[in-house]
Amino acid sequence: MFGARCLLRALRSCSSAPCPRQRPAARVSVRGALGVQSANGERVKVQGWIRSIRSQKEVLFLHVNDGSSLESLQVVADSSFDSRELAFGSSVEVQGQLVKSPSKKQNVELKAEKIEVVGNCDAKAFPFKYKERHPLEYLRQYPHLRCRTNVLGSVLRVRSEATAAIHSFFKDSGFVHIHTPVITSNDCEGAGELFQVEPSSKIKVPEENFFNIPVFLTVSGQLHLEVMSGAFTQVFTFGPTFRAENSQSRRHLAEFYMVEAEISFLESLQDLMQDRLEHMLKNNFLIISYTEAVEILKQASQNFTFTPEWGADLHTEHEKYLVKHCGDIPVFVINYPLALKPFYMRDNEDGPQHTVAAVDLLVPGVGELFGGSLREERYHFLEQRLARLGLTEAYQWYLDLRRFGSVPHGGFGMGFERYLQCILGIDNIKDVIPFPRFTHSCLL
Ligand code: 4AD
Ligand code: MG
Repeated sequence: MFGARCLLRALRSCSSAPCPRQRPAARVSVRGALGVQSANGERVKVQGWIRSIRSQKEVLFLHVNDGSSLESLQVVADSSFDSRELAFGSSVEVQGQLVKSPSKKQNVELKAEKIEVVGNCDAKAFPFKYKERHPLEYLRQYPHLRCRTNVLGSVLRVRSEATAAIHSFFKDSGFVHIHTPVITSNDCEGAGELFQVEPSSKIKVPEENFFNIPVFLTVSGQLHLEVMSGAFTQVFTFGPTFRAENSQSRRHLAEFYMVEAEISFLESLQDLMQDRLEHMLKNNFLIISYTEAVEILKQASQNFTFTPEWGADLHTEHEKYLVKHCGDIPVFVINYPLALKPFYMRDNEDGPQHTVAAVDLLVPGVGELFGGSLREERYHFLEQRLARLGLTEAYQWYLDLRRFGSVPHGGFGMGFERYLQCILGIDNIKDVIPFPRFTHSCLL
């Protein structure tokens, strides 16, 4: 009894005494810790996942990664910390001192004072094995876990940086960012690759559409950007785009991100390509005309399953051949001589038609990266065209844009995943998007 009272008094006096307290460890990211130039024993706390573990007689080495960088932080601990729970893949919180590393491999390391396992990882059941380089196709089976690998981690960090860089580019060039809608009643591309949107259950009005008219997931923000370019001159959007394309190819997704821009007072395709696209890609290009492209392809037609027809869209095999033929550099294929007026008449089976100047950018390994065109800004041409297609009523608003202060304008769309494939040299588009969606597959 006496002993207990004594102990209590001692504790009380201890807690009220001005004894020196250890400063709480500051939480730092792995990237932050690795960036410290001259570590001097700062007390820090790092949280992340164990990427490797090596146990020696007296010391334990861990590499901890938190996704902030490709590199992991080396944690050096006394071997008494070793436990079965400290395994490849487990999540940990490590407190200790940041010190200069004696090894040349890294600048700093964390001398552990406390290691707490936040979540165990059953290494046997975990689909990724320590020190093994798993093929990308294998990783694709685990969309919920593959972000923890070096390769996907790096790709997704580049994706995040590239997203920010695209926003900065447009902002610095004076563009206004527009959130174009995901649900739309337009079929912008007219290609019939639409996903229709309906409530999952027939709510309230069973016989009618939720929006009164059929609506779809957007295939392009172009028409909405055209609306906005009537007020802001330079606009862009960067968002998800949906196409019900029945393709499992390595360059098609059913949901992808598109960067689209629309510019008013644009007189020629040359302006669009040289001032905008080239500026954006800063690269060496070859520019060839569509006619020239078809000539080249016709001469090599024995190589193709589809004979290239003048006026038709190029097939993937044609695009690949053209890029190879032109020396494996990006190739702009334009449908109209640059020096002439952007609009022209041409005849086809339906009689005389007009079309607008358009350009595609074909890139080695990826195929079509950009598609751009000047838009029809003349009211009577557009009116005739819409009347022929029976769309005058539905697109009256589009005609209005040409009635009230119409200006020549044009723009382009770039597939963001294809851009990432280009800059990263990644063969399959499914490996540059966190959660790929394509025919017969929508995991998670
Ligand atoms: O050539 P597209 O169909 O052009 C448009 O949608 C225009 N309305 C854009 C505009 O002018 N505002 O698509 C543009 C780009 C293609 O060049 C390609 O890079 C990418 O979008 N793309 C796809 N990327 C992944 N999966 C798919 N299924 C794609 N379809 C097109
Ligand atoms: Mg296109």
